[in-house]
Amino acid sequence: MDKMESTRNKLIALLEENKDQYISGQKMSDQLNISRSAIWKHMKELEKDGYEIEGKSRKGYRIISFPDKLSENTLQWGLRTKWLGKTIVHREIIDSTQFLAHQLAREGAAHGTVIIADEQTKGKGRMNRAWHSAPGHGIWMSIILRPQLLPYLATQLTLLTATVLADVIAEHIELRPQIKWPNDILINGKKTVGILTEMQSEQDQIQYVVIGMGINVNQPTNELPNDISYKATSLNVESGKEWDIKEVIQYILQTFEKSYESYIENGFPEVKKKWESYGFKIGEMIDIKTMQNAWRSEFLGIAEDGALLATDPDGNETKLYSAEIAWFKEGN
Ligand code: BTN
Repeated sequence: MDKMESTRNKLIALLEENKDQYISGQKMSDQLNISRSAIWKHMKELEKDGYEIEGKSRKGYRIISFPDKLSENTLQWGLRTKWLGKTIVHREIIDSTQFLAHQLAREGAAHGTVIIADEQTKGKGRMNRAWHSAPGHGIWMSIILRPQLLPYLATQLTLLTATVLADVIAEHIELRPQIKWPNDILINGKKTVGILTEMQSEQDQIQYVVIGMGINVNQPTNELPNDISYKATSLNVESGKEWDIKEVIQYILQTFEKSYESYIENGFPEVKKKWESYGFKIGEMIDIKTMQNAWRSEFLGIAEDGALLATDPDGNETKLYSAEIAWFKEGN
């Protein structure tokens, strides 16, 4: 962060702390150690970015509203992370944040770079499916990571991402998420979040990983995709509330950074435990489909390396790395 940005961050923090009262130009200039005319200039810049600030002579300044619009600046202000999102690339419209993330990663973008778009015209899902990315109503975001991990462990990052998003939904949105293996997040049985992990690696070393997440936030029912293979929902539909997308993004990045650091330090067991606490249909019968086979199986959980643990067609425990799961719905 350059000096200008860090001063502006502090200024926002000061305005936020004092949002119910006026804070004098003098007080701000003392606290931030810059001149009153520099304060005034920053205020003008903030107004350009959509911050509504009231200035009253002899009283000082008061913030009236924060901008709704996403931008690199509004996303970064108030973001409490050490490395994740220190570089944010925001686009109003893009083909896919995954494509740009790969391009930037190839060009050397740093670990923790985040790409966010208001709208995607070619949103990409797993298995080459399209991902419907409604303008302005969801979070369409890709994170570039450069972990020092063996390539086969990248699956664990996907599972970790699912637990992070489930935590955010449970704690911040106060809904009850479940994770459908490997990484769809369901609320009341309907898909709210999709995660797509892509990686560039050499035999024994990951060059970079791009973790893409699509979160249906403020779509009303009629704007949700009508896919025959799954039912979709949004945080809005499930909670009956509109959510501040910027706030949710910041919450995700903060939670992600903490969980990622703890995973790097302590390994997968904690993630596994958390994942299983949200796991959908664990201990129940599911239908498994792999490239070669399809059978009815008992879903046992996930293995130490993140694979799906289930019974094979003969009833023996087996590990699966790539499979589709489904289940018989009761009553239909
Ligand atoms: C899935 O469930 O199939 C995964 C969906 C992943 C969608 C996200 S949205 C942000 C990023 N950019 C994309 O084009 N796809 C991912």
